[in-house]
Amino acid sequence: MPGLAIVGTQWGDEGKGKITDLLAEDASAIVRFQGGNNAGHTIVRDGEEFKFHLIPSGILHEDKYCVIGNGVVIDPKVLLEEIEGLRKAGISSANLKISANAHLIMPYHILLDTADELKLGKLSIGTTRRGIGPAYADKAFRIGIRVQDLLDEKILRKKIMAALENKRQQLQELTVRRRKLQKEAQPGEELPDERLDLHGLVEEFLGYGHRLEPFITDTTRLCWNELDAGNKVIFEGAQAALLDLDHGTYPFVTSSNPIAGAACVGAGVGPTDITEVWGVVKAYTTRVGSGPFPTELFDDNGAHMAERGVEFGTTTGRPRRCGWLDLVALKYATRLNGATSLAMTKLDVLAGLDTLSVAVRYRSKEGAVLDEFPYHQSVLHSATPEYVELPGFGDEIVDARSEDDLPPAAREYLSFVSDFVGVPITLVGVGPSREQVIWVNV
Ligand code: IMP
Repeated sequence: MPGLAIVGTQWGDEGKGKITDLLAEDASAIVRFQGGNNAGHTIVRDGEEFKFHLIPSGILHEDKYCVIGNGVVIDPKVLLEEIEGLRKAGISSANLKISANAHLIMPYHILLDTADELKLGKLSIGTTRRGIGPAYADKAFRIGIRVQDLLDEKILRKKIMAALENKRQQLQELTVRRRKLQKEAQPGEELPDERLDLHGLVEEFLGYGHRLEPFITDTTRLCWNELDAGNKVIFEGAQAALLDLDHGTYPFVTSSNPIAGAACVGAGVGPTDITEVWGVVKAYTTRVGSGPFPTELFDDNGAHMAERGVEFGTTTGRPRRCGWLDLVALKYATRLNGATSLAMTKLDVLAGLDTLSVAVRYRSKEGAVLDEFPYHQSVLHSATPEYVELPGFGDEIVDARSEDDLPPAAREYLSFVSDFVGVPITLVGVGPSREQVIWVNV
């Protein structure tokens, strides 16, 4: 039985949660391997909407392990709120397992994320300001605090002290700049309180440790046991290929590796444990935050996507930038991930558009034809997409449940995409609920 990775192929928000929820049906474990509560996934079950940031999408399956792997960065306050939210909805978290090696997002990481973004001004990355970058930076710098540290007061105190010492200057700067930063902040945006006290932090985090202790597990061994027993394990990616720290549109990326290969590091399995890779692609493209986006639209077509697709960030509520499907980028992302299948979500959103454009190459500002996703950031920034226009479909497809129910133009769109990238489309989403999917063979 396979280890199966489900990953985003664009700039996130492709609807990975829904696909994971569906493919989890016959899995024994669902494992998150990177990112943190910068992610947001919405799952609609029996008309009820569930929003998660940290907890893997598999949590609604009470018979499966739901794992937060070592590669994830955890804000324990957010995690406990999610566990509490589930309890209130009558859903047990007994199957939740948290890696002792996962790193924690501390209050100073959130402060520094905000301060760094404000300092960058016009050049800001547009992070979710959840402390993701600073937490991963501390991990690499070897002054991070791990989940296991919560269980030992002496170690926790020592480690927080060392981490704070390292940040004293940056935090002092923040105090001095506070009034100025507050002026520069977005309307309604409150700067978090920069006054951090060691004793308070230790007490607060020991409390989290106490509440999280029942969930802390050797999650790597858990994955091995499930795989070795022949059970299906799903590795659920957050964010997406073009936000990958190494392969995405750096520096406008997240601070982890959302590509399938990172599941090995972020969960502790070998490459040969992953035998299927599902790339999730939205039928058009969206992006939150700054950075290049060659097929971005500023016209009625973009407005159609934003409105019909309800394109607002699950985590920050920010409007998402919208544009045509970019096949140059998709081909790059499917290769990076070694995708074996594609799941295309939100095809229904395109209904009613006269023609559907898909980018098949870029043109550089010097006029060169670029068939491949350019490795040079400046080239991508000034690249203009060249499109193929495909016929639109006027009819709603939200009730389609088989390939034959789709209008010919919708089927042509699917074939064009799969032919272009050379990966079959196996699943198509035609609405938000878990019933609104079609298994296809395109
Ligand atoms: P960070 O991950 O908060 O550091 O943000 C870095 C970039 O990744 C920003 O452009 C964010 O908007 C983007 N980003 C992070 N998480 C997500 C996500 O789940 N969906 C879409 N964009 C994301």
